[in-house]
Amino acid sequence: MKNNKPKRIIGISGSPRRHGNTEILLDRALEVAKRKGAKVKKIFINELKFSPCQECKNIRKDGVCIIRDDWQILCSEIEKADGIILASPIFFGSVSAQTKMMIDRFQCLWLAKNIFKTYKTKKRKAGAFICVEASNRKDFFINAKSIVRNFFTTIDTDYRGELFCSEIDKKGTAREHPECLKKASNIGKRILSL
Ligand SMILES: Cc1cc2nc3c(=O)[nH]c(=O)nc-3n(C[C@H](O)[C@H](O)[C@H](O)COP(=O)(O)O)c2cc1C
Repeated sequence: MKNNKPKRIIGISGSPRRHGNTEILLDRALEVAKRKGAKVKKIFINELKFSPCQECKNIRKDGVCIIRDDWQILCSEIEKADGIILASPIFFGSVSAQTKMMIDRFQCLWLAKNIFKTYKTKKRKAGAFICVEASNRKDFFINAKSIVRNFFTTIDTDYRGELFCSEIDKKGTAREHPECLKKASNIGKRILSL
């Protein structure tokens, strides 16, 4: 029987700059997904209040982080989603600190899956990664991608699409890159068919 429930797509922006280049490309992907019938939600990590991972001593073994803060909001949205589009600018050759801080908090899940073996995958999700940088350094994208792939594996998400945009720096200039906007649209379209 066909499931007619709209797919839930969550867009996560790791840029501290509102309406900047990362968000412009993420918005384009989300707009297209919405037009195609998805239920979309955007989360701006920088506006949440949560701590970085504290390597807590008395951790739970079921994959749930014991720190109660806004990261839990993010975690529950990710759990409910069918697809995730993670978007980050390149900062010092890697994903932004906001993005990395969010990812590190999933260490409890990584441990439950890989060390305690207490966690069973509930549902698999489709994932895509959007990344923007001022320079033209492939190695920075490779670096960021490897972190995001590792994260996606941990949250049961298949890495299915990517968009790397170079030479975009000044706020809003992503709008002047039609080829990047087009690829962002394709990510929005494809995330539903994955
Ligand atoms: C703290 C910081 C570090 C950055 N590091 C790099 C870098 O290592 N390589 C690069 O190409 N661009 C770097 N950039 C430039 C951003 O990646 C670029 O301006 C991007 O378009 C910003 O996206 P946003 O508007 O979504 O924030 C850096 C910018 C900042 C603020």
